[in-house]
Amino acid sequence: MRLLAVSVFLATLLASALGTVDTFIVSEAPIAKANLLANIGPSGSKSQGAKAGVVIASPSTTNPNYLYTWTRDSSLVFKLLIDQYTNGVDTSLRGQIDNFVAAEAVLQQVSNPSGSVSSGGLGEPKFNIDETAFTGAWGRPQRDGPALRSTALITYANWLIKNGNTSYAQNTIWPIIKLDLDYVAGNWNQSTFDLWEEVSSSSFFTTAVQHASLRAGSALATTLGQTSVVSNYNTQAANLLCFLQSYWNPGGGYITANTGGGRSGKDANTVLTSIHTFDASAGCDVTTFQPCSDKALANLLVYVNSFRSVYSINSGLGTNVAAATGRYPEDSYQGGNPWYLTTLAVAEQLYDALIVWNKQGNLTVTATSQPFFSLFQSGIATGTFTSTSTTFTSLTSAIKTYADGFVNVVAQYTPSNGGLAEQYSRSTGAPLSAVDLTWSYASALSAFAARDGFVPASWGAAGLTLPSSCQSNSGGGGGGSSGATVAVTFNVQATTVFGENIYITGSVSALQNWSPDNSIILSAANYPTWSATINLPASTTIQYKYIRKFNGAVTWESDPNMQITTPASGTFTESDTWR
Ligand code: NOJ
Ligand code: NOJ
Repeated sequence: MRLLAVSVFLATLLASALGTVDTFIVSEAPIAKANLLANIGPSGSKSQGAKAGVVIASPSTTNPNYLYTWTRDSSLVFKLLIDQYTNGVDTSLRGQIDNFVAAEAVLQQVSNPSGSVSSGGLGEPKFNIDETAFTGAWGRPQRDGPALRSTALITYANWLIKNGNTSYAQNTIWPIIKLDLDYVAGNWNQSTFDLWEEVSSSSFFTTAVQHASLRAGSALATTLGQTSVVSNYNTQAANLLCFLQSYWNPGGGYITANTGGGRSGKDANTVLTSIHTFDASAGCDVTTFQPCSDKALANLLVYVNSFRSVYSINSGLGTNVAAATGRYPEDSYQGGNPWYLTTLAVAEQLYDALIVWNKQGNLTVTATSQPFFSLFQSGIATGTFTSTSTTFTSLTSAIKTYADGFVNVVAQYTPSNGGLAEQYSRSTGAPLSAVDLTWSYASALSAFAARDGFVPASWGAAGLTLPSSCQSNSGGGGGGSSGATVAVTFNVQATTVFGENIYITGSVSALQNWSPDNSIILSAANYPTWSATINLPASTTIQYKYIRKFNGAVTWESDPNMQITTPASGTFTESDTWR
């Protein structure tokens, strides 16, 4: 009797342990799809007033008001729909996709506070849902938008060409893509607000999606005979790939999200990059930070662990168990809670990694990824483990369980109607901030697809090599410079009190990547002129500010950031007055 009770109990436990994620996906997937489509005009049930093909971020109109269309959100949502359509998962989406193409063609031409179509307007982050410009104050420009939009449209154009509709791809879609890619190629080295619309500097996500868009765009241009753009797209892509390397923080073992911002730099920005630039044909390539690359795995661990002590819903969870994650640990927006889409992104990166390991039949543990793999097998040695080894089997099975854990966290904090808001409470798990966030639904559907083994079309990440000049460019933050440096003397007139000092920091590693703690002290030998000479990357646009430090207090100069463009060679002197 007792034995029976115990075994029934165990069987129930086993069934629920095995079944939770599957059960959640079965119920959540159709809800996510329906609610996603409800947020697309003209006939989505929650998007009244949105023009055809316009994606609203959320139907929420107050606290926060998200009844706008963001280029980033819309493009990520339509990338998902285009993947579903072109893979035959949902052949009913054709009309929606063509509406999106038409809507984006209109939005590109709308003059807005970032400019006109030919003067920077493509970097505008959001528009009204009737396709007019949003003219209020905002963090602009955001230069990931054109890259994400063109990437979605390139996927569609490639499918159309393969399926005998080259003329629509050539005549209607290519002109939209070309505007976006010309903008990316021409402006990638300019500062941008990050995907969270907060920090103006350079941003890993933006750099990475720009890189991928130019690679895919150059291949499409070749297919369509649009050869005049190819060499410029390839050149700028090579520069972007160089610059991308500079975000890696070797000491911390993670990818620093932004060159500005004065934060730890641990940020979902980097995990989202990994899933949105996944290209299975590149294997575990590290230069493109593929999901199974050692750097991306090390980064995932640091990112996840940064939330363990900041959200009380994570307390008591073991370090090898999934946890709730948000945008970045210092976040305070709308309470600074965990986000559904960031928690799901962690699961998706791991599912993508599993796809590649299983496909290539091995996985490699390096010194960089050892902390990650040690979660699942303590003391694991570096080396390559083939799929016939027990190490491979037990690691991949433990990583699948860990990945499912992130979906389970989302399942646990999804209300019974299946609605996915933007955030869930750090202390209770209850949904918070914008309801029915379209991007949350897209993130659920793409994580579920990755769990099922879905592999998106390649964007051309396989076989890329770093330009040789990159390797010697230890500064790296120069945005594709040749590796040459110039000695720059900064002189600033500043009156100080005894014990107060002037420092400088800025947007490149030679200026300590906006870190006030590591900022460089100036000499007061010629007071009131404070001075320092620093080797900076040549031919590079660099932002900086002076800082005062007195008795532990840090005072930044007022906005905006200062900016210089260094010469190709020689020396350079910059004379400023403290602001
Ligand atoms: C705020 C998020 O930080 C940003 O990434 C997003 O585009 C908008 N909300 C709209 O969803
Ligand atoms: C953080 C500082 O507080 C701010 O003043 C500066 O502009 C940014 N870093 C860099 O964009």
